[in-house]
Amino acid sequence: MNILILGSGGREHAFAWKIKQSALCDKLFIAPGNAGTIQCGTNLNISVTDFDAIKNAVLEHNISMVLVGPEDPLVKGVFDFFAADDTIKHVQVIGPSKKSAQLEGSKAFAKTFMQKNNIPTAAYKEFNKDNYAEGVEYIKQHSLPIVLKADGLAAGKGVLICQNHEDALAEFELMIQQSKFGAASEKVVIESYLNGIEISVFVLTDGKDYVILPEAKDYKRIGEGDTGLNTGGMGAVSPIPFFDEALKEKIVTRIIEPTINGFKNDEMIYHGFIFLGLMIDNGNPYMIEYNCRMGDPETEVVIPRIKSDFVAILKAVGEGKLGAISLETDERTAATTIMVSGGYPGSYETGKKISGLTEATHENGIIFHSGTKMNQEEVVTNGGRVLAITSYGNSIQNATKNAQQQLNKITFEGAYFRKDIGYEFE
Ligand code: AMP
Ligand code: GLY
Repeated sequence: MNILILGSGGREHAFAWKIKQSALCDKLFIAPGNAGTIQCGTNLNISVTDFDAIKNAVLEHNISMVLVGPEDPLVKGVFDFFAADDTIKHVQVIGPSKKSAQLEGSKAFAKTFMQKNNIPTAAYKEFNKDNYAEGVEYIKQHSLPIVLKADGLAAGKGVLICQNHEDALAEFELMIQQSKFGAASEKVVIESYLNGIEISVFVLTDGKDYVILPEAKDYKRIGEGDTGLNTGGMGAVSPIPFFDEALKEKIVTRIIEPTINGFKNDEMIYHGFIFLGLMIDNGNPYMIEYNCRMGDPETEVVIPRIKSDFVAILKAVGEGKLGAISLETDERTAATTIMVSGGYPGSYETGKKISGLTEATHENGIIFHSGTKMNQEEVVTNGGRVLAITSYGNSIQNATKNAQQQLNKITFEGAYFRKDIGYEFE
């Protein structure tokens, strides 16, 4: 079958790398892709939210599966767009319907869903202009820290953790009255702060059955020792040493099964990845958030740990036959370190020539591209997160050590990376 991947990051390069290895894949296309995905298939210069152009490409290249990487097209309804069009409704779109993607697209929708299905999560209330005064009173009596969340998508910036009431009140005013995040903060969820260790658990479902993919831990802060500004993710590791059978069992019974049952009860069509952002406190899991896609950089460690034919699994999702699939995983540890542009997550320059990529061929891992593009014959930077250097090892420490050579060989002006990914497990 011919397959199209939507997206252009490290996550999509990891998908492309894995899919290319399947005998079930004839031709692979990536839209828009990056300089790395060119090694796996054909890049198409199409935006992930230009549904008409995507449809034309699907018809032109006889594509029968579309794997959606980022949340934007899902929240905008790419699944429903395909289902409603006779010429493309036979195509398997791997991702949730527009309604189900609201689990990521609207924090209020997600919290209502969690509450309705008795899924453990932080206590919360939602506010808008109409009950603004009530929100002010709610904040004043709330314990600290207070978590404020813009309801809609805000490019990863819509969550604010406030350490005192004054800051919380000021942010609340900015979000609701001054439209700090535009329409995304017309509604605000105010919730209690959860203590614990944050992990990412990934579930692939056809709406009835599910498989649990390898779990991962993401390192979001720019600085070593988890300091400084939040980023899209500076590295990730899988598996997580404390993720034992007892914890997994709690996650299955308290979170995954109620979630899948919730889909059935509310007729939510879901043929894709569920990303559970969980806080583990004293061995108990609490939902922080749902995402309706895989994580980035988590995918760059999760995919390398899947041994099974990935296209066979995705095909089973599209056909509603996931119940017949069992997942084979690689026992090794995988760690990824992200090389970023100087200045990221603030402003940064792009177009910097990347040297050493050929020399840095990776025996113990894979070099995934995140923000890169071709400039004639050269690979140049094209984003904040530039490369994901993934390595295998028999421990987290050993896996990150195996990437050192690559991290030292690859250079571009302003390049920065954290040297301590997985540090707390050493
Ligand atoms: P999001 O933008 O929804 O991915 O949330 C950003 C981050 O905020 C999460 O990954 C958590 O680290 C943190 N966060 C969100 N909600 C809470 C909460 N209730 N308690 C503690 N941390 C939270
Ligand atoms: N790594 C977190 C995310 O993809 O949202």
